[in-house]
Amino acid sequence: MIMKDYIQIFEDFLKKEINYNAPANLYEPVKYILDSGGKRLRPLIVLYVSDLFTSNTSNAIPAAAALEIFHNFTLAHDDIMDNSLMRRGKKTINSKWDNNTGILSGDVMLIISYEILNKYDDSKYVLLSKKLTETSRLVCEGQQNDMDFSLVKEVSEEDYFNMIENKTAVLIGCCYMFGGIVSDLNTKDINILYEVGKNLGIAFQLEDDLLDSFGDEAKFGKKIGGDIIEQKKTLLFIFTQAKLNGNQRVEFENIFFSDEIEEVVKINLIKTYYESSGALDYLKNKVQEYSINAEKLINQMQIDTNKKLELIKFSEKLLNREI
Ligand code: IPE
Ligand code: IPE
Ligand code: MG
Ligand code: MG
Ligand code: MG
Repeated sequence: MIMKDYIQIFEDFLKKEINYNAPANLYEPVKYILDSGGKRLRPLIVLYVSDLFTSNTSNAIPAAAALEIFHNFTLAHDDIMDNSLMRRGKKTINSKWDNNTGILSGDVMLIISYEILNKYDDSKYVLLSKKLTETSRLVCEGQQNDMDFSLVKEVSEEDYFNMIENKTAVLIGCCYMFGGIVSDLNTKDINILYEVGKNLGIAFQLEDDLLDSFGDEAKFGKKIGGDIIEQKKTLLFIFTQAKLNGNQRVEFENIFFSDEIEEVVKINLIKTYYESSGALDYLKNKVQEYSINAEKLINQMQIDTNKKLELIKFSEKLLNREI
């Protein structure tokens, strides 16, 4: 099967199984965001892993759908928190409707993701829902750290990596793990899959941060420079700030923390700093590092060499992105 086919399996499930009942003001925004596309990476991972190990995707479909709907819940709330007006090239829920609409439609997507897991028998349900519950808590912790960091002048690299592990990578970890759980892999391999996904998830968020400043808005579907305007302490910021000395650092910080400079001007100035500091190469090397970690972990699994190679190839593809 090719990537597109896995995604189609998820789209079919969404069409058939998700009912958008009354009240319309709750479910219209749910339908709106779920139908707005996106890369569908999370269900793709679950379905791919399951197909790789069992040559079957049907057992994996509810788990795949649960994680994509959970992801969309986090996006609905994230866009309120980040004051974002555009996602997937369309207005965000908070911009098309309002913040209250974003809160409750987000909440209901979280609940729906758990409801979908009811399709599994008790022994699998326990494993899946336990992990999803832990993941939900970690995502909240990461999201709060991300907000807290936006209010301070300096954040350590270690704190940054811990924050992105929680806000983004644990869910990618869950996707790999759920693929392993529905395939009845042994516990050791299931746990390795979680770590594989976490490493790739960190690399994925690093790339998202890079694209937020340097991507093509039409392809990325989100406003370029949003992280700069929200004063996000991304690796680009942390590295650049640490590289600069004396006056240069003061100038950089004055621009970054200014409320008076026009948005476009600020974004372009800060991007120039990011480029000349070497932060882009530093970030790309980190992406490589985490991708290699994932590869090493895959090699530790108790599976056929061929499957290891397939899984490594697939995982590398996830990180070759422009969007
Ligand atoms: C956006 O995730 C949030 C991050 C974790 C960076 P995606 O980039 O996977 O968003 P969609 O689902 O493709 O729109
Ligand atoms: C993504 O962080 C984390 C979650 C949505 C939980 P971002 O704030 O970078 O995601 P985008 O860039 O808005 O998609
Ligand atoms: Mg955001
Ligand atoms: Mg955010
Ligand atoms: Mg982002």
